[in-house]
This record gives sequence, structure tokens and C-alpha cells, in this order.
Amino acid sequence: MTQETGLIRWDDNGLPIFLGDSWEAHISSWLEVSLQAKQDRVLLASIAYSLASKWARRKTGKTVEQFAGDVGLRARTIYDYIQVYEMLQKCDQSQIRNLLESPLSFKHLILASDIKDEAEREAALAEAEDENLSAESMRDRQKKKRRKARIDEGLKSIASTALSDRYKLIKCDIREAHKKIAAQSIDVIITDPPYPQEYIPLYEDLAKLAAHALKPGASMLAMVGQSYLPEILSLMTPHMRYHWAVAYLTPGAHTQLWQREVMTGWKPVLWFTNGDYQGEWKYDVAKSEKPDKEHHEWGQSESGMADLIERFSYPGDTILDPFLGGGTTGVVALRMNRCFIGIDDDPEAIDTTTKRIAA
Ligand SMILES: C[S@@+](CC[C@H](N)C(=O)[O-])C[C@H]1O[C@@H](n2cnc3c(N)ncnc32)[C@H](O)[C@@H]1O
Repeated sequence: MTQETGLIRWDDNGLPIFLGDSWEAHISSWLEVSLQAKQDRVLLASIAYSLASKWARRKTGKTVEQFAGDVGLRARTIYDYIQVYEMLQKCDQSQIRNLLESPLSFKHLILASDIKDEAEREAALAEAEDENLSAESMRDRQKKKRRKARIDEGLKSIASTALSDRYKLIKCDIREAHKKIAAQSIDVIITDPPYPQEYIPLYEDLAKLAAHALKPGASMLAMVGQSYLPEILSLMTPHMRYHWAVAYLTPGAHTQLWQREVMTGWKPVLWFTNGDYQGEWKYDVAKSEKPDKEHHEWGQSESGMADLIERFSYPGDTILDPFLGGGTTGVVALRMNRCFIGIDDDPEAIDTTTKRIAA
């Protein structure tokens, strides 16, 4: 049965029929907000489908499925319907004709629009056309090229920098560290703060330091124990955006937590970002060998740190560890052609790390 509510009419299949252009404008902005909030996907899909259908018919005389197929979209996902709808709203008839005649699909154009540099974007599109690449292959090839260029550039800058200029060790309390680190100068923070309860307030200082020191979009990986996770998150999230938790496996080093009656074989590495994440896809399980207590009673293994450094940074990047301890992060970072800044309030940690780097 057909129902009518305000300016929307619902047909028998539960699809909305829009009445009037101004309402469409409202729906369009509502669509964006709802999509961001990922609310009510079924309703969203219906609305996107309805709008796209209406505009496809009006501008091309085709069904939305036919038109989407012509421009290289699958027209199955909400995202595709919204793309069709927005494109048709913006394009005049001659632009639509050009689009349909181009050997590249609309999807090529969408994915290429992520490439900020115009010459690079044109080259990617020309390559896709010459080699008949799918839009996804074009994007993947572009990503690989960008990654390789960044690694090559980093390795080149490291090769021309003396080891002594690639690291700095600072003895200070984390609460004072923002005075010693230039704002937005750090590519990634990888750190392992103390876990006992009396240290919990320091997690807020860590988050404040990260918000000051990290470049926009850059990440912080903070290894934590499981016991005080709720407190830690509530102290850190006012300053840094929670992104994900990486599982850090510690095979063979099972710790017994008597208070919780748990034998643990992993710990979370909380991943925060300074604003919107700007980086690549990541796998979320890292692996460590047995922790190394030779340099610090709370020392981590070099293999575990190497896994995180490999995944979350590039050669030439500057890594900050404001809870240096025995210097594992620094030693491995330098070995892996990164630059490093280490901070600790314990002079022995600075001394141990200096000797370890020199060895
Ligand atoms: C868990 S350990 C780091 C171990 C290190 N990941 C390693 O592999 O050797 C934490 C370090 O934080 C330092 N620390 C504790 N409170 C601090 C503070 N307020 N400011 C700076 N460093 C602090 C401790 O001295 C200790 O060296």
C-alpha cells in the first residue's frame, strides 16, 4: 500500500518517491550526513537508488543500471548510486556524452581524482587508457609507485646523513617534552609507556604530546597493558583520535596476571591519529619474539619493534619514543634507516641507549 508522509511518498516496495526539487536538496545533504554516520543503510540505499533513477531517466533516458554500466560503475552499492546521482546533477548533456564516449570509465576518473598532482593524474589516466587497465589496477599501480618513490627518497636522504645527525636522546619528563620537540615535526610515535596503575595519568600527557608533535594525519602506536584500558582511552581520546587496536603477539612469553587470573599471550597497541588518518591499509596483528630484558627490566624485543616500524613508517621518517627505556625502538629505527628522537626521565635509559646505538 502506498503511504505518504510530507514530501516523500513510499511505494509498495518501500522505495521513496520524492516530490519536488527543494526536497531533493534537503535529502541530498541528509544523505551525506547519514552516510558519514553510517545510519540506516537500507533506507539510505533506497533513497540513493531513487534519486539516481530519477536523474538517470531525466538526463539520459536510461535506467540507472544501464547508465551506471555505461560509465563503469556496478550500480549495486549505495556509494555507486550516490556517485551517479551527484554526477548527473552536475553534468550537462555534452559532458555526459563525452563521459560515455571516453574509453575510461567514470570510476577511473573518480579514483584518479585522489591523485593531487595534475601531471601525475594525467599520466595515470593515460597509462590506464594505453594499457587497458581497470580503474582498480590503475589505483593500485599508482599506490605502489607513490610508495616506492617515498622509500627511494627516504633512503637517499638517509644515505647522505651521518648517524649522529639522525637521532637525538633527551632526558626529560614527558610533561615537559613538548618544549623540546618542534610542533608537527614527527612522522610517527611508537612507544611503550609503563603499565602499572600509578603511571596511568601519564597517558594523558602522552596524548597531549602527540597532538603537539605529530604531523597532520600521522599516527601514534602506544603499547598498553589490558588492565586499565577504559581509563587509558578516556584520558587519551580528548586529545587524539582513536583509530584501531593492533594485536601484538608475544609467543612464548606468557605473563600471569594474578589479579585478573589471566595468562596473556598478547597486548594491545593502541593506534591513534592526529586528525584524519593519512596512510595506507594496514594489517592489524604484529608479532614479537620473547621480550628482551637485557637493556631494561621492561624491555621489548627488537623483532616486535621492527614489525611495527616496518608497517607504520618509511625510511627517512622521524620516529619519536617518549618512553625510551632500554632504547629498543631507537636502535631498531636507526638500523631500519629511520631518524629517531628518544625521551626518558631516567638518565640510565639515556645512557644505556647511547651505548647501544654506538655498539
Ligand atoms: C616500559 S619502559 C620502556 C621500555 C622500552 N620499550 C624498551 O624496550 O626498553 C617505560 C619507560 O618510561 C620511562 N618513564 C616513566 N615515567 C616517565 C616520565 N614521566 N617521563 C618520561 N619517561 C618516563 C621509564 O623510565 C621507562 O624507561
